[in-house]
Amino acid sequence: MTESTRNATLSLDGQSWELPVHSPTAGPDVIDIRTLYGQSGLFTYDPGFTSTASCDSTITFIDGDKGELLHRGYPIDQLASKSHFLEVCYLLLYGELPSPAQLEDFESRVTNHTMLHEQMVNFFRGFRRDAHPMAIMVGVVGAMSAFYHDSTDISDPWQREVASIRLIAKMPTIAAWAYKYHIGQPFVYPRNDLDYASNFLRMCFAVPAEDYEVNPILSRAMDRIFTLHADHEQNASTSTVRLASSSGANPFACIAAGIACLWGPAHGGANQACLEMLREIGTVDKIPEYIARAKDKNDPFRLMGFGHRVYKNFDPRAKVMKQSADEVLDLLGVENNPTLQVAKELEAAALADPYFADKKLFPNVDFYSGIILEAMGFPTSMFTPIFALSRTVGWISQWKEQLADPQMKIGRPRQLYLGETERDYIDIENR
Ligand code: SDX
Repeated sequence: MTESTRNATLSLDGQSWELPVHSPTAGPDVIDIRTLYGQSGLFTYDPGFTSTASCDSTITFIDGDKGELLHRGYPIDQLASKSHFLEVCYLLLYGELPSPAQLEDFESRVTNHTMLHEQMVNFFRGFRRDAHPMAIMVGVVGAMSAFYHDSTDISDPWQREVASIRLIAKMPTIAAWAYKYHIGQPFVYPRNDLDYASNFLRMCFAVPAEDYEVNPILSRAMDRIFTLHADHEQNASTSTVRLASSSGANPFACIAAGIACLWGPAHGGANQACLEMLREIGTVDKIPEYIARAKDKNDPFRLMGFGHRVYKNFDPRAKVMKQSADEVLDLLGVENNPTLQVAKELEAAALADPYFADKKLFPNVDFYSGIILEAMGFPTSMFTPIFALSRTVGWISQWKEQLADPQMKIGRPRQLYLGETERDYIDIENR
């Protein structure tokens, strides 16, 4: 971080304090309040962190007003159209686009780590068949700390590197096996002659009874979906991973915490909730009723896949996803998909409504992704596991960045206490 050249002055009750201001390479300036409590005895107050920068980072930049998303400076729409997921993984992890030799080496390392320890098969079998695949992923990823002891020492750069590769490589196998277990089909093992997205599709949809040919349209769409979900600055699940890591927890435990946080319907669970909402709406004529419900303060219903803490303009990922939805459904010959029709009409109706326009609520990454995933053959319960699979590289990149930060401290926020002041215990006979 550059040395501060300006100060902000905070004044209260006749006292004032100087706080350094830091300027970024892009985005808002920040007021450095690290010395505030020591100087003034005051806390700041920001539940939900709406005005708080929790760290400095060089990985991803979002401009919510412009609807801009950059990974190491490269715009997401260029990466989605010109790059592919493992190259984006390299970019997020190491900061630069790889040379051909670097990319070949990286892809080879990932490919050769896709298998799971065979003893983990028993771990899967401990779940009920109707367990949500996200419940299985949280459990299995957390359990990796018990299977891969040789990459849990975070003070060893080599072990950090191995854990990173293992997590990126094994997440598709874990997600696919969670799906297979859920539907009662045998596990399909990864193959080293398939690319990352094709491997995942085959592990999800192949059965021993017949050969499985990966449809190149589906693997390209799958790879693009992975890229669009790879990282997103300090969102809730990434912040969870950073907070867990700040205590020195091992990488598998930290990523399991991120998966747990992502599962919520306000975050990564929104893609499943969005498709279920579109199905519930069912037909275009029901849209006004649901728009009215979303606007009704007394109704907890919200348009899932709409709105965003940062984007107050279009989510650039939603734009790419919408184009991809049209392409994939067309190429798959899915004529007039009613869910896509409802989604497009719902988007148009919401964006024409002052409530959504005034609150700057636009479709986010979760609005169209479910339509593509459903057309590809995935049940809604697999939508968030696919989000978790994709976001693992973002969580790991941010985890590595934080561990390399010499200023890293354990995250320990304070509070505005509104409870009882001290009082004496009352014996039960006197209550
Ligand atoms: C992801 O942070 C990230 O980067 C996340 C993510 C990533 O890649 O990691 O982008 C992935 O999580 C995308 C978001 C997925 N969630 C949803 O689609 C769920 C529906 N959206 C909302 O719950 C909401 O928009 C959030 C949670 C996404 C954002 O919530 P905020 O920023 O805390 O905003 P808010 O709840 O304070 O809402 C502001 C106003 C409120 O009205 P008022 O109280 O001001 O009158 O807008 C309203 C809200 O009621 N509002 C909505 C709405 N979203 C916000 N009203 C109807 N429908 C909605 N979807």
